[in-house]
Amino acid sequence: KAPDLALTPPMGWNSWNHYGCNIDETLIKRTADAIVSNGLRDAGYVYVTLDDCWHGARDAHGDIQPDPQRFPSGLKALGDYLHQRGLKFGIYSDAGEKTCGGKPGSQGHEFQDAAQYARWGVDYVKYDWCNTGEGEAKRNPLEAYATMSKAIAASGRPMILSICEWGENKPWLWGKQYGHLWRTTGDITNCWDCELGHGNWLSHGILPILDMQVPLRAYSGPGGWNDPDMMEVGNLPLLAENRSHFAMWAMLSAPLIMGTDVPDMKPEIAAILTNPRIVAIDQDPLGIPALRWRATPATEVWAKPMAGERWAIAVLNRSDEPREVAIDWTHGELRDDAKGRDPAFATRTYALTDAWTGASAGTTVNTKLVTVGPHDTAVFTLTPNK
Ligand code: GLA
Repeated sequence: KAPDLALTPPMGWNSWNHYGCNIDETLIKRTADAIVSNGLRDAGYVYVTLDDCWHGARDAHGDIQPDPQRFPSGLKALGDYLHQRGLKFGIYSDAGEKTCGGKPGSQGHEFQDAAQYARWGVDYVKYDWCNTGEGEAKRNPLEAYATMSKAIAASGRPMILSICEWGENKPWLWGKQYGHLWRTTGDITNCWDCELGHGNWLSHGILPILDMQVPLRAYSGPGGWNDPDMMEVGNLPLLAENRSHFAMWAMLSAPLIMGTDVPDMKPEIAAILTNPRIVAIDQDPLGIPALRWRATPATEVWAKPMAGERWAIAVLNRSDEPREVAIDWTHGELRDDAKGRDPAFATRTYALTDAWTGASAGTTVNTKLVTVGPHDTAVFTLTPNK
């Protein structure tokens, strides 16, 4: 795989969470224009990805073609449109015979499909895991993702490979060899704290996904990222929930892939998604996901080591009531021994900045009292005092 394409977590937009199969070239162009005009591109959101259902049929040579009604200008033209605006082009396929939405998959056509994507100027491939066989005939995921990784390399065009194997085969153990990010869970769903079953398949709200990331932090880092799925920021009912979801994905060093209606985005949602201090927490070059430092059933304090001996601290209120959290910096030293990282916190004091507003917010000399509204998250960055 091309090693340097995702030294920080990829950022962009994907059609699935808001539009499902209902996509066409007009929508994608309108979305791209809005990503540019509302400042999202300049905040870092550059990958614009067509998820499932862009597909038409294979032509006489077996080359995959887009749906001629939905994409009458073709995907080379769409890729050019994105590139002319400083954006990058993402596409979706599947390691089985058919995608999850029943469109043609890439099994047996990997090299031909990657070559076609290269001709279209594709920069990012999300590669799903539906319809990959049952029982004895089940495809081996390492073989499947290795094959697509080789096919992309053979195409001659660098492309990010987003491994969409939903966690059943622990892709955090092997994904980095082949791809740049790997899903850690089933699909995200637009709710704060719920799990929805459909058959033997589970979709998870924000808090259940967050809990599933706690044991996985050691696997994520520059070049290969845990992917707790695309964001529902902009879709959740409460502004506080949208804030918390965004803050916690940044704390996790998660890929920041928007999944909402961009042309009709409310200014307060754009303000969350473009907050430069929260984006910088996600994009910190060390790429170390946060640890859950202290937790009660209602409130949690997460801590993320950052470059320059800084830290980010998030205070999450999971409950339906406002809560006051007292952070006594001397009680239970803030340190991170994972991967043998420098635990030099104990001897220093730090200046606090409120990451939402940029205002200074005291130091770690005194216990910090933080009031957090229901389902909301306060975020601070800590900069060492000289
Ligand atoms: C799977 C993936 C989703 C989405 C759909 C499309 O469920 O996990 O992210 O790509 O397929 O059908």
